[in-house]
Amino acid sequence: MKLFADRMRNLGSENAFKVGDDIRRCEQLGQKVIRFNLGEPDFNSADFINRVAVEHINRGNSHYCPPAGLESLRKAVARQLSETRGIEIDPELVVVTVGAKPPIGYALMTYANPGDEVIYPSPGFPIYESWITYMGAKPVPLHLDEAKGFSFTAEELEKLITRKTKLIFINSPSNPTGGVLEEEEMKKIAAVIKRKCHESVRVYSDEVYEHIVFDGGKHHSIASQPGMLSRTVIVSGHSKSYAMTGWRLGYAVLPTAEEAAVFKNLNINNFSCTPPFIQEAGREALQHADSTNVVKQMVDEFEKRRNYVIQALNDIQGIGCAKPKGAFYAFPNIAGACENLGIIEKYNKLPKVKAERTTPSTLFQRFLLYKHGVATMDRRSFGQIGTKGKHYLRISMATDMDSLKEGITRLQNAVQDRDGFASFLKEDKYVF
Ligand SMILES: Cc1ncc(COP(=O)(O)O)c(C=O)c1O
Repeated sequence: MKLFADRMRNLGSENAFKVGDDIRRCEQLGQKVIRFNLGEPDFNSADFINRVAVEHINRGNSHYCPPAGLESLRKAVARQLSETRGIEIDPELVVVTVGAKPPIGYALMTYANPGDEVIYPSPGFPIYESWITYMGAKPVPLHLDEAKGFSFTAEELEKLITRKTKLIFINSPSNPTGGVLEEEEMKKIAAVIKRKCHESVRVYSDEVYEHIVFDGGKHHSIASQPGMLSRTVIVSGHSKSYAMTGWRLGYAVLPTAEEAAVFKNLNINNFSCTPPFIQEAGREALQHADSTNVVKQMVDEFEKRRNYVIQALNDIQGIGCAKPKGAFYAFPNIAGACENLGIIEKYNKLPKVKAERTTPSTLFQRFLLYKHGVATMDRRSFGQIGTKGKHYLRISMATDMDSLKEGITRLQNAVQDRDGFASFLKEDKYVF
């Protein structure tokens, strides 16, 4: 008898959390690691948000509460979404969750049978592919093209839609590329979906980076397009916009009351409710008069860092990087650096069992961490299917300017360290 159920083989993960073990190992070896791996703002949540949570705990607001979320927060979310997207959101359709991650699994459980096709961006947030395979649905990656600013066109999406398509994930601004879908393209994408998909096909619009858009640009939700609100699950949360990653607060807006009831029941089955004092603080984040300004200051800082990092990356031989229009990630193409360092050549000579456990960008990522003390994420951390021959890294810019400068200098040194890579490859326990 086997200990684990067969389905556990199909569950993926998020390496941004797992790489922590490698960082600790490096630090034990005496390395001071620059962390470009974390997808969280390096700012703290604002005092006016923190105060509300503390007040509510002290007041005894620390018991179970309604599983779909407090009415006050659901109303505040509905108001904010209605105002920013030009649509009318009913608070009854809002379901509050512990971060913006649970709705991903919920959507798979709610809408997709085994064998149904689910389209998702690649590179994309790894939890989409993880849940799709775990639930036995068929993953259909929509490959984002660097040449198009890591966006995608309606035509590319249309080619992937079949009669078996049940769910389509969209994420703008995107993790890990920073790509942002423009309104014109969004219109065309909506038109394709309405023309090609049955009305019970759902679009999952992951909008967690909605406030982090650069160059005076604007976030556009597909739900704002005519006829799309009734087909779209809008998901966002407080982690990125209000620097509240550890609070665990997110929400989904469902197209119908029937679907909201299913998500609410999934909450009941999983964690009963989101802590009420956290929800009260989250409501304050949406309503406080200073909030817009606090968010703006953070986004301005991310934009400054973006300007520095992209220029600095493009100055490194063998690295090219598209300019992200939102979020706080750079996603450089490292194909030239892999070639120059001899990584591609050495990868091609690896025995099959070893080659299957790694990729050229993974080798580079581990070399960079163990030998040069910079933690980044490799390409396969953002979707594994159909990524052979694609050599990228994700660099999080959610760290202070001094660390960014030091990290870029180390990266510059690493791409010239051909001998260093050759000797690193002999250290099996760190390489694989
Ligand atoms: C695209 C995307 N969706 C969802 C999440 C989950 O965010 P949360 O911290 O609210 O669970 C993340 C976090 O990195 C993300 O990048």
